[in-house]
Amino acid sequence: MSAMTKEVLLSVRELSTWFELRRWGFGHAGYVRAVNGLSFDLMRGEAVAVVGESGCGKSTLARTILGLYPPNRGEITFEGEDISHIKTHGLRWYRSQVGYIQQDPYGALAPFMSVYQILQEPLIINGIKSKSERTIRISVAMEAVKLSPPEVLLPKFPHMLSGGQQQRVVIARAIILRPKLIVADEPVSMLDASARLETLQLLEQLKQTYNLSVIYVTHDLATVRYFSERVFVMYAGEIIEKAEVDGLLNAPFHPYSRALIAAIPDPDPLNAKTYRDVPGGEPPSLLNPPSGCKFHPRCPSIIRGLCDLKNPPEFEPSSAHFVKCWLFKK
Ligand SMILES: Nc1ncnc2c1ncn2[C@@H]1O[C@H](COP(=O)(O)OP(=O)(O)O)[C@@H](O)[C@H]1O
Ligand SMILES: [Mg+2]
Repeated sequence: MSAMTKEVLLSVRELSTWFELRRWGFGHAGYVRAVNGLSFDLMRGEAVAVVGESGCGKSTLARTILGLYPPNRGEITFEGEDISHIKTHGLRWYRSQVGYIQQDPYGALAPFMSVYQILQEPLIINGIKSKSERTIRISVAMEAVKLSPPEVLLPKFPHMLSGGQQQRVVIARAIILRPKLIVADEPVSMLDASARLETLQLLEQLKQTYNLSVIYVTHDLATVRYFSERVFVMYAGEIIEKAEVDGLLNAPFHPYSRALIAAIPDPDPLNAKTYRDVPGGEPPSLLNPPSGCKFHPRCPSIIRGLCDLKNPPEFEPSSAHFVKCWLFKK
């Protein structure tokens, strides 16, 4: 990490987001512990990839950071401001600082709005009253995401665009207020192979140009080298390993991370597949999670009497490489 990125932008402490489950006739039936006690700092200009199997809580984490779900516990601070329970005015400020890129670009775009209207909306909401200023900012954003020619694309509706173009409109909208952070939740998983690579390269370029911090959520470890400095591996609502990309990919510590990396099917990200049945066994229920380490029922290196009873704290077996696993207790 360069010296430039040492300033903390976003700080997450002991964050938990649970969903209450209700059953017909039974009322409260428990909590789905989608995010459970996460802590990390994100530096200015830094990109972090959040990886893990489907259902491990990645989108819930993303949406909690975006202020779309209220956390049950813990704290999120952005530039030193507590945003965990931010309301109205503060929320509008925060939304202008944080851009959101969703998985499904078509679903993210109102079908009856033209590209022009879609890009104009956040500017209006944020009080940019001058039409000429809005027009300039729209064309700057179009150019930044390489949507051209603007005069042809601006009047179009989302269904008239390709998937890659739709995702560029979503990205243009996400950066139009010049945010400091982008949360990109599986931004390329619904695109075809060529649009996937182009979109990842575009995000990397925008990150450099605007010194953006990025939280890049993906189930696809093969793409993290594209623009992440660090990787967080999530399992059952927890971050079980945090490390710089090379450290994680070349020397993963956690048995779960090892299995994920061993299962990367092909070094070419264009051919990357999803990880089905990897590693062996099922991810645990988040409603009734296992005792101890949540990975212990699937773990090839289980220490009985310890891993099945006590959830491990975070150890730091090598510098700035953290792992929640009893194998690394000093
Ligand atoms: N709005 C919601 N209400 C209830 N349960 C939810 C909601 N969103 C997600 N979940 C549950 O939380 C868990 C984590 O989901 P999610 O964060 O979408 O995981 P991922 O993005 O890693 O696939 C899943 O068990 C999912 O069913
Ligand atoms: Mg998701």
